[in-house]
Amino acid sequence: MCGIVGYLGNDRAYPILIDALKKLEYRGYDSAGIAIWRNGKIEVARKKGKVDELREICASGFEGTMGLAHTRWATHGTPSERNAHPHRAGDVVVVHNGIVENYIELKEGLRKDGHKFLSDTDTEVIPHLITNHLNKGADFAEAVRLSLAEITGSYALGIIHEKDRMLIAAKKESPLVLGIGDGEFFVASDAPALIGRTNRFIFLEDNDIAVMKDGSLRLMDVEGNEVERKVHVLHWSGAMAEKGGYKHFMLKEIFEQPMAISDTLIGRVKEEQGEVEFEELKLPGLKRIKRIWMVACGTSYHACLIGKQMLEANLRIPVEVDIASEFRYRDPIMGRDEMLILVSQSGETADTIAAMKEGKRRGAYVLSVCNVLGSTLARDADGVIFTHAGPEIGVASTKAFTTQVSALYLLMLHMGRKLGLMGNEVVRARIADIKKIPHKLQTLLDGAGSIEELGRKYMGFKNFLYLGRGINFPIALEGALKLKEISYIHAEAYAAGEMKHGPIALIDENMPVVVVSPNDQTYKKTCSNVEEVAARRGNILLFKDTDAHEMAAKANVVFHVPAVPYDLQPIVHIVPLQLFAYHIANLLGTDVDQPRNLAKSVTVE
Ligand code: G6P
Repeated sequence: MCGIVGYLGNDRAYPILIDALKKLEYRGYDSAGIAIWRNGKIEVARKKGKVDELREICASGFEGTMGLAHTRWATHGTPSERNAHPHRAGDVVVVHNGIVENYIELKEGLRKDGHKFLSDTDTEVIPHLITNHLNKGADFAEAVRLSLAEITGSYALGIIHEKDRMLIAAKKESPLVLGIGDGEFFVASDAPALIGRTNRFIFLEDNDIAVMKDGSLRLMDVEGNEVERKVHVLHWSGAMAEKGGYKHFMLKEIFEQPMAISDTLIGRVKEEQGEVEFEELKLPGLKRIKRIWMVACGTSYHACLIGKQMLEANLRIPVEVDIASEFRYRDPIMGRDEMLILVSQSGETADTIAAMKEGKRRGAYVLSVCNVLGSTLARDADGVIFTHAGPEIGVASTKAFTTQVSALYLLMLHMGRKLGLMGNEVVRARIADIKKIPHKLQTLLDGAGSIEELGRKYMGFKNFLYLGRGINFPIALEGALKLKEISYIHAEAYAAGEMKHGPIALIDENMPVVVVSPNDQTYKKTCSNVEEVAARRGNILLFKDTDAHEMAAKANVVFHVPAVPYDLQPIVHIVPLQLFAYHIANLLGTDVDQPRNLAKSVTVE
């Protein structure tokens, strides 16, 4: 996994690299390192732990206008200073995100040539390979190209040379962008890391090598052919990547949801005409689509579970949902008349990308729902719908989730119109419904102060059960996931009706049971389940949208959520659960934005 960053320009590289590295910490944070070039010398600092710990040992800072930096999520070799990047061999210094799959064979060969290795990483073979080619007379860029041709696996690389003020970047199956400034170049694992530095980006493609020197850029592929790539302009501002007075990014992002949903609707919903159009999307002939697949990981998978219910109920097309890491290995029965929808905040999750490749190989139409422009899923799918959530920095996903659900709702309306299943009147009414959501969410958020008190009351419990039904069962799953991720408290979610087949045995007064219970067609059934929990002295936290909820008196805690139409209930019901998890984690003092062992974007299997 890991995040990499590089700079070549006229400004001091150190603050630029550290600042971007902090923004990439979501990709891993078990060790960090930096290399700065100055007057033909490269100084390197590495540290186990987070970027702030690296910053401490660099207290005097480095001068120099070119450099590389890295934040690591260990794959090969324990988290330690010796395994932290950058790695060096002779004059060559490298930062790497990815996995060199043939590193054992390469290492053996290099050892025979007298190379000595100082770390347990796969990465260290790369600077040694480059040095080998330099020793045989290749120039720096050529030595990099020849080395990459020997590597199997994935890489996003930043490479510098002590005797040459040149920055080289290369990409294969790990994300990498170039930022183009005024006489300066940036390299980073994603564009948001460079927000505020430039808004012009080149999204490198697999096998691209970028050579930057003296204000000029040369792009080639591993065969040495010149390639051309488009420069994209991104309209994200620097302020979007700051905490803006909130204690944590996660809290800020929870509060940004009304705006993020509005932004996801803008330009797409034409209420008067009763139409939903996506400028960036050209769907194939929909009448031939016999089945839809929805594949994703983590929170995005929960958005797919909601999407399934919306699409099946409204379009009457069968929808299968799969976890990407399962889908890719289970030889799915998928053909040409099928559509594969991949949902991903980052657009870089390795398993979801593999699912896309599988879908394409089988001839399905592949549509991605992504938040990050230029990401692999956005680029390589047949069609893309962007969620306009803005940069999501907190590792636990919040606003990306509610915008994914909103985007899927819009897709459902768009397809409903195209298939002739929904008339303008219906679509007009349903557009009006979702347009009311930002305001309803804002009201909910304005009145959510009591959730902190709830957090205080429940922070001492060791286990939680979350229950929901129908379109809100995924909300129980997502609520439980939020609690696990950031507070490290065990939480399990069950379809409310399934509780009696096992988890009911766990219920006593020490088991808080969070019940998502809007007044929908399954409301009465959920009431019976609440009754069953109450009869066993379970501690009930009821999230409801009707004043007349029959079970309110049996609940230990009741929280009122605005009533909205069925398909939109998940969007309003997840928000108090996000806040509940946030407040418990904050009160327990965990690292809310960067919970232990997790990473925002999982770019390895
Ligand atoms: C990681 C993150 C989750 C995210 C999941 C899928 O596990 O911690 O928050 O939901 O990856 O990421 P994606 O970028 O594909 O939505």
